Amino acid sequence: MKRTVHHLFSVLFLLGVVGLLSFRVILRQSSIQLRNESPFVEVANFRVDNETLLKYAAIDVGEPKLKQEIEELLEGNFRNQGRHRSFLSSGKYRIDVRARSARGLPVQVRSPEFNQLWLSFRRHLHDWSRNRRFQSDIMLDLVNELKDLMDKNGGKTEGLGRKYKSCAVVGNSGILLKTAYGKLIDSHEVVIRLNNARIGSFENKVGKTTNISFVNSNILRLCARREGCYCHPYGADVPIVMYMCQPAHFLDFLVCNSSHKAPLIVTDARFDVLCARIVKYYSLKRFLEITGKDVEAWSAVHDGANFHYSSGMQAVMLAAGVCDKVSIFGFGKSAATKHHYHTNQKAELGLHDYEAEYDFYGDLVARPKVIPFISDKFRFPSVTIYQ
Ligand SMILES: *[C@@H]1O[C@H](CO)[C@@H](O)[C@H](O)[C@H]1NC(C)=O
Ligand SMILES: *[C@@H]1O[C@H](CO)[C@@H](O)[C@H](O)[C@H]1NC(C)=O
Ligand SMILES: *[C@@H]1O[C@H](CO)[C@@H](O)[C@H](O)[C@H]1NC(C)=O
Repeated sequence: MKRTVHHLFSVLFLLGVVGLLSFRVILRQSSIQLRNESPFVEVANFRVDNETLLKYAAIDVGEPKLKQEIEELLEGNFRNQGRHRSFLSSGKYRIDVRARSARGLPVQVRSPEFNQLWLSFRRHLHDWSRNRRFQSDIMLDLVNELKDLMDKNGGKTEGLGRKYKSCAVVGNSGILLKTAYGKLIDSHEVVIRLNNARIGSFENKVGKTTNISFVNSNILRLCARREGCYCHPYGADVPIVMYMCQPAHFLDFLVCNSSHKAPLIVTDARFDVLCARIVKYYSLKRFLEITGKDVEAWSAVHDGANFHYSSGMQAVMLAAGVCDKVSIFGFGKSAATKHHYHTNQKAELGLHDYEAEYDFYGDLVARPKVIPFISDKFRFPSVTIYQ
């Protein structure tokens, strides 16, 4: 154990900040076409068996790599995380566990505080990785796992076990600048925002209420560099729901959790697996429709091992699980607007297939029954997309 901690420590020392992966909501607008309900998906010149799509969507190409990474982390080996920029080049990360360890290396390594963090990290990572499996009715658990947890923390006693009446999911697309949906957004019982997008000076377009801040763990990792893991552009009372992009981020989670007043909740790994399958299914389907190629060719084009759903997609799924009515704002793209309402960033695709996700939202609105991998016990709420 001692040796392991030493090993962990020396590598922690080298750990830097993972470059912020941009999870920008820059959905491409695509037309929603109704397709027929035969067991085959119509593709330009031939038909692809729906079963084949389902089978391929269920394969997680990145799984072996992730498993290995988790095993190494559990053994205290941060080798794979060590190639990132050294934190030493910037003297700012005072609160980050890595920075703390850097300042008082020999003493702090052996400190009970550090040891506790390390044990806690292992436990969480272990539980999370064991939980990472497909479960078709996981949507039914979201009210209990997420909504009630947040409500109880906020001192609410009413409405536990029931869904919110209405939720607005606010994406970060520049299309929000074309309209003034602020008041409409704020009129929902719950407003969910993504990846800490700024609302100041955009209130008439994006609203000012935030009830849930949905982020990916790369965002929290950035916050971990700030005093007290500051990650509350919407106020310290707003709960944060976060999905883990990398298992090593559990360290940031644990370090930050202690300084957060509102709950900091990591999404259920089974919910992550479900979202991943659905998006991959839509991506495969779209790929076949457009290219007419074989499913095998998808992985090379979409970087199968790193392919991931966007934060926006999982936030919409979260809303679908905890709300009776879902309104989607700021998802989509138009040539006339900026990609991001609050930055001047250029489009970034790569990890995500926004077009495929938009196909999924189209089904969510028009015919949720065809969405694969979801248990019949779950009923999707009514969903409206505002453009
Ligand atoms: C969401 O936030 C608004 C503004 O703070 C508040 O009035 C509303 O009650 C919150 N919704 C829930 C369900 O707590
Ligand atoms: C996070 O912090 C809260 C409040 O301090 C605590 O109740 C909860 O158990 C912590 N969660 C984890 C995973 O440590
Ligand atoms: C493909 O199969 C899924 C899961 O059984 C189903 O929900 C969906 O409607 C099917 N799609 C088509 C185009 O038949």
